[in-house]
Amino acid sequence: MVKIVIENLAQKEVFPEGRVNSVLSVLHSNYIDWMHACGGKGRCTTCKMIVIEGAEHLSPPSEAELNYRKRDELATNERLACQTSVLGVCKIRVPEETKLPHMTYTN
Ligand code: FES
Repeated sequence: MVKIVIENLAQKEVFPEGRVNSVLSVLHSNYIDWMHACGGKGRCTTCKMIVIEGAEHLSPPSEAELNYRKRDELATNERLACQTSVLGVCKIRVPEETKLPHMTYTN
């Protein structure tokens, strides 16, 4: 089973369909707004997600993510939603700094 659970969006569950896509595109295709200032090109970190569970079910870090890690702009428990594909079950959170004002977040 492939599933993304968003902890601080009321444990919302989304199920990727079809071919393997980025987490960002899966979220958007499920009508979940998620910040993505560079349009999903790996040139910002605004699509950052905190991985709570299931890091082993995510694609390996991209070159862009590894570069952000080297510069301490991406922690080891964080991934870029536009650079990451989900291959199993994972639980993520929206970071405080990239919460969108029109969204209602939970704990
Ligand atoms: S949207 Fe900019 S790095 Fe993902």
